[in-house]
Amino acid sequence: MLTVALPKGRLADEALVWLGRAGWPLPVGENERRLIVPSHDPNLSYLLTKPMDVPVFVEQGAADMGITGLDVLRERGADVFEPLRLPFGYCRLSVAAPADRPDRPLRLEISPRVATKYPRLADAFFRRRGISAELIVLSGSVELGPLVNLADLIVDLVETGETLRANGLVELRPILHSQAVLIVNRASYRLHTAAIAPLIAALRAVIEERKREESEGAC
Ligand code: PRP
Repeated sequence: MLTVALPKGRLADEALVWLGRAGWPLPVGENERRLIVPSHDPNLSYLLTKPMDVPVFVEQGAADMGITGLDVLRERGADVFEPLRLPFGYCRLSVAAPADRPDRPLRLEISPRVATKYPRLADAFFRRRGISAELIVLSGSVELGPLVNLADLIVDLVETGETLRANGLVELRPILHSQAVLIVNRASYRLHTAAIAPLIAALRAVIEERKREESEGAC
């Protein structure tokens, strides 16, 4: 019996499209509140978790596999097998500031207050630059920070840049380029290679096929 952790929310929808293309047994059932969802195959089920928690479930072996964002994976620092990057969920983790901030290099910031959902990655970024930042950890709507004088800067995900623009913020520096990634518990992979390896191979094959089609279409 294998379990796959999926993040509830937008990544899950695209994940299911790709899993379907690869012929993985998909979740079945109508009850949206169920957190353990069976599939057509009695040997595979899904766990629906908060996006930030997928790496925890997989690293601890509560799920054998999972789909998460590279941003979340690095923030959690989980020790898992990462066999495959997936072609969706593209975004970047960036430092952003109010558009009217004086035009000075980041390294000249003195103890900025930084609002973020990613304290580990934000802390590493500022430390590397010798900046002693005060981190203000939020769980969402991080862009509010500078607007209400809770923070001087933010470290948050940027996809289209719409949320930054709508809130008078500008991107200063990308910290991490992210996309969806398939992760596997290391012990599960060793124990259940015969079941897991074909699932990875099927997913890899449809991704490669799609890439080929796109590059042929571009020619
Ligand atoms: C994410 C992220 C940004 C926004 C970026 O927020 O934290 O706020 O999306 O997308 P954009 O560049 O396309 O505007 P999410 O919608 O997950 O909600 P949250 O702010 O509550 O975390």
